[in-house]
Amino acid sequence: MQNQLKTIESEALGELKALGDLQQLEAWRIKYLGKKSPLYQILRSLGSLPEEERRSAGAAANQIRDRLTALLSERQEALKAQAVSRPQEGLDVTLPGRPAPLGRLHPTTQTIREICHIFSNLGFQVVEGPEVEWDYYNFEALNIPRDHPARDMWATFWLDILDEKEQRKMLLRTHTSPMQIRIMEKTRPPIRVVVPGKVFRYEATDATHESMFYQIEGLAIDRNITMADLKGALYYFARRLFGPQRKVRFRCDYFPFVEPGVEMAIDCFACNGEGCRICGSSGWIEILGAGMVHPEVLRKVNYDPAEYTGFAFGLGVERIPMLRYGIEDIRLFYNNDLRFLKQF
Ligand code: FA5
Repeated sequence: MQNQLKTIESEALGELKALGDLQQLEAWRIKYLGKKSPLYQILRSLGSLPEEERRSAGAAANQIRDRLTALLSERQEALKAQAVSRPQEGLDVTLPGRPAPLGRLHPTTQTIREICHIFSNLGFQVVEGPEVEWDYYNFEALNIPRDHPARDMWATFWLDILDEKEQRKMLLRTHTSPMQIRIMEKTRPPIRVVVPGKVFRYEATDATHESMFYQIEGLAIDRNITMADLKGALYYFARRLFGPQRKVRFRCDYFPFVEPGVEMAIDCFACNGEGCRICGSSGWIEILGAGMVHPEVLRKVNYDPAEYTGFAFGLGVERIPMLRYGIEDIRLFYNNDLRFLKQF
């Protein structure tokens, strides 16, 4: 048996030297270390040998198996390294990899993040809400009762969903203001939130009007909040977004859910108020609508207007990058044209 083992070892070592690739090495492994190999058969038959012979043959057979196994893995590593360093037909591992295409954030998303970040520095939280909304939140609770002419300010996509019992109708929200009510219903003051989100209007689209666009709503409610807080917060916001030298102008405007209501404009950053194409020669650019939350709205959510006051504002998001980058048509935002989107 000792002789048989020696023959197996020398044959295996002899053949191993001549092997040139991993496939041949695998065949060698099966031949000398596999379950049908003579060495394996000897190891299995050891139990039937007389004790003296079993011990010496067992030691020799195990030694050969360990040696061949060690040489096998050594050779495997060497052949693998050789395969990688040697360019093969159809595969040149020295070529640089193909770069994975990198996406980027949509200009609307970038603007929303920037604005929310500015307000979060003032202690505002970011909240989101439903795009499909009840008539109650979009209009009624905002002091716009059924059949009130102010509803014409927002051309509405109505849905065929009606809550028969309560006669409530559903719609696609026309602004982010319904979130004012939802937030106040759930929380007690102090409240400071901004709400970014999609809104929908049943309007013919043109260069400055889309039927789907984004707004950011702001709401602050507490004791003793005054118009000065509204002006201070929006002043800070405008200067952070458009630069520290910007002037801000507030003028009266009407929204049924605020009293007084204002429209805020900044002096044109392109011409510094001189008058140009971007500001329509007026020197001023309107940025948002705002105002002090109407006492009727506070009563709707069971806040006592004698105890609490607050301000709210709403701005159109696309308007900001349009002004900043001179984008002339709002419809470019959602056409998914990569030539447009790649620029931001
Ligand atoms: C509102 O929607 C009020 N909810 C804003 C508000 C909130 C006022 C809180 C007071 C207090 P308005 O309809 O003006 O207001 O819309 C706000 C902004 O949305 C506009 O200034 C404009 O920038 C943008 N916007 C309005 N209609 C469109 C449209 N069709 N396409 C793109 N942007 C639009």
